[in-house]
Amino acid sequence: MSDCSAELAQKSLKDFASVIENKMLSLLPVSEGREENVIEAMRYALLAGGKRLRPFLVVQSAALFSIDNESALRVAAAIECVHTYSLIHDDLPAMDDDNMRRGLPTTHKKYDDATAILAGDALLTLAFEILSDEKTHSDAEIRCDLILALSRAIGAKGMVGGQMIDLKAENQSLQQDEIIRMQNMKTGELIIFSCEVGAILAKVSDDRRMALKKYAENIGLAFQIVDDLLDIEGNSEDIGKTAGKDIEAGKATLVSFKGVEEARALADELINNAVSHMDVFDEKSEVLKSLAKFVINRAH
Ligand code: IPE
Ligand code: IPE
Ligand code: MG
Ligand code: MG
Ligand code: MG
Repeated sequence: MSDCSAELAQKSLKDFASVIENKMLSLLPVSEGREENVIEAMRYALLAGGKRLRPFLVVQSAALFSIDNESALRVAAAIECVHTYSLIHDDLPAMDDDNMRRGLPTTHKKYDDATAILAGDALLTLAFEILSDEKTHSDAEIRCDLILALSRAIGAKGMVGGQMIDLKAENQSLQQDEIIRMQNMKTGELIIFSCEVGAILAKVSDDRRMALKKYAENIGLAFQIVDDLLDIEGNSEDIGKTAGKDIEAGKATLVSFKGVEEARALADELINNAVSHMDVFDEKSEVLKSLAKFVINRAH
């Protein structure tokens, strides 16, 4: 498949950004009272930009099952709140200690550590408030399914566990399967959940849900490999965060394990796998196929 197929997703992502931003803005609490600082920090982190890949995956997976747009957008917003919380905490001095995120000062630099920690906590909590609200779906069983799947994706056996392994592995040599497990947990699980949302909202658990999961597993790992490649090959201005941090911190990545060439070849292979898993949806999955290509061709 050619580069031009990545362009379809690139353009759709660009158009989608303002839609999801407006939705998130509408779900934020009013910034007033003595607590207003934390709400301002939430808004700062949420609206700083970003590719909006995960909410886009939600909306695209929901479109495969002709799900109501409002339901899909609310779940999409909840997931971007979770992702943004994970970035705020990932950047803290006690974690990756980063000063720049999405081309702007990180939340703890703009405000302070305590405000950043609380803004992350409040974004995570807001996500569950959004999902459990009747406005997200009238069927309580579906709302519970969403909450259960998200909880599993981001807890100690998912994203948080992956972040723990990532930090503990600094300056240690992990085996390839251990690195892959860590990447799947810290990055893959939330991407898998984003892709499964369509099937959960449609109450579908057949081979189409499995295909979405497989697609997501492949792009999730490829996405983190590209993130690790960009840390080495990209420049800070383009990637919107300080380049070269992974080597400095002694991070265990597939790029440090395999080298740049082999890691890129693996990412290519994963993307081809992802695309092939979308064949069950015929032309309906055109955007998701294109998005897989974007994941590997992205420059930020
Ligand atoms: C960065 O995620 C953190 C990883 C899981 C690699 P993104 O690259 O999606 O960050 P934004 O949302 O576009 O800023
Ligand atoms: C972050 O991975 C993963 C999560 C936030 C869960 P990285 O530490 O590689 O992400 P960046 O490079 O800081 O965006
Ligand atoms: Mg990190
Ligand atoms: Mg980091
Ligand atoms: Mg990184």
